[in-house]
Amino acid sequence: MRPVVAEPGKRIAVFGAGYVGLVTGACFAELGHDVVVRDVDTAKIGVLQAGDVPIFEPGLDEVLDQNRERLRFTSDVAEAVEAAEFVYVAVGTPPTYSGDADLSAVWTVVDELPRLDHRIVVVMKSTVPVGTGDKVRHRLDGRGLADVGYASNPEFTAEGTALRDFMHPDRIVVGSFDDGDGDAVAALHSGIDAPVVHCDVASAEMIKLAANAALMTRISFINEIANVCEATGADVVSVAEGVGLDRRIGPKFLRAGIGFGGSCFPKDSLALKQLAANSGYHFQLLNAVIEVNELQKRRVLAKLERHLGTLRGKTVALLGLAFKPNTDDMREAPSLVLAGRLLSEGATVRAWDPVAHAHDLRGVMQVDSVEEALAGADAAVLVTEWPQLGEVDWAKIAGTMTTPVLIDGRNMLEPAAMLAAGFRYEAIGRAASGNAGG
Ligand SMILES: NC(=O)c1ccc[n+]([C@@H]2O[C@H](COP(=O)([O-])OP(=O)(O)OC[C@H]3O[C@@H](n4cnc5c(N)ncnc54)[C@H](O)[C@@H]3O)[C@@H](O)[C@H]2O)c1
Repeated sequence: MRPVVAEPGKRIAVFGAGYVGLVTGACFAELGHDVVVRDVDTAKIGVLQAGDVPIFEPGLDEVLDQNRERLRFTSDVAEAVEAAEFVYVAVGTPPTYSGDADLSAVWTVVDELPRLDHRIVVVMKSTVPVGTGDKVRHRLDGRGLADVGYASNPEFTAEGTALRDFMHPDRIVVGSFDDGDGDAVAALHSGIDAPVVHCDVASAEMIKLAANAALMTRISFINEIANVCEATGADVVSVAEGVGLDRRIGPKFLRAGIGFGGSCFPKDSLALKQLAANSGYHFQLLNAVIEVNELQKRRVLAKLERHLGTLRGKTVALLGLAFKPNTDDMREAPSLVLAGRLLSEGATVRAWDPVAHAHDLRGVMQVDSVEEALAGADAAVLVTEWPQLGEVDWAKIAGTMTTPVLIDGRNMLEPAAMLAAGFRYEAIGRAASGNAGG
């Protein structure tokens, strides 16, 4: 670790005004830098220029508002980079049909960088396969831009808590080909109290992928423990507490449920699996983690069928659509798989979510309240642990359902209270207290 030298007031261009780019831009402005955020999506830029925020991320609107004088938004490359010293790349890297990361947006940014009369450092914030930095370096050199620096500064923020995560990270990772560039990127974070891991570019790229894989492994691990709990009569919530108090293990990411989703874990696990395979290595553990997660979502159908028999003609309410609370992000949300499976079994699907929209869920009727979702329904599945669901008068609502079946896909509610409220309540891995069934 090298000390971070404070250097406020740098000029930063951020390419990509998505979940990561906007948070990065807002937080760098908050740290005192001048930031221009550029996106190819002119509608998004229009919204930002008008003072609105095109995504839902708690606190983002305030930080953007408070730093307006240090923040600009444009769709023009030249305007974004003309004065920039650092060009952050925060564009999407979605999966291709094969699971490899689609880097086309990254290459577009590299290719559209103009020749400037001052030196810039390109900083990769997007999650990319190991080796991408090397390839970008070659491409820049091939374009006669050997003087342009390059660093990898992967992002570890989580949607819903992204601003706090950016300003109070566990660590800042900076991989660079040149120590001076690495120090300069680290210095952009002065004001943030966190250890800085300086390393080579390939290792920084791998740190991001490995950290995500470790978190996903914990989730699939506790979900498998939950499934064995169900089969054997143990309660996974007590088990996770008892396991997590072991300091060698720790309590985080040991919450059993219907599996992970979102814009990062599913695609990053596939990208790492394919990266390993492309390099001649079969990553067995990661393959199992992915498969366990896929099956976990589908186990809900068997639970519903145990209570309802066939799902044909039944009405099932999905409580929550977003892949987790406090975001409107629907990418790879378990609700997408669940709704698809329910519809294909012939069920009618209703959904409630306070923020996310069911645009991608053809055939699903979205309603405005939990009460509306449950009235006359044959069963409900708690898909996203929105805090609002903790405030619902369940005893009142149970009586409005045709059959009061509730599958708690996030182990959010108290089994005894739900049974007392009149529900046939089933959670994940809670055989001992919650699976009284029907
Ligand atoms: N979402 C997260 O919480 C998170 C966390 C850590 C890492 N990441 C990684 O960060 C990257 C960005 O993720 P995101 O969720 O912000 O994606 P996003 O889809 O929300 O945003 C990407 C933005 O890039 C824009 N874009 C595409 N090409 C462009 C170009 N040439 N110039 C400027 N803008 C361009 C798109 O229009 C879009 O607005 C991905 O690699 C992702 O894996 C995301």
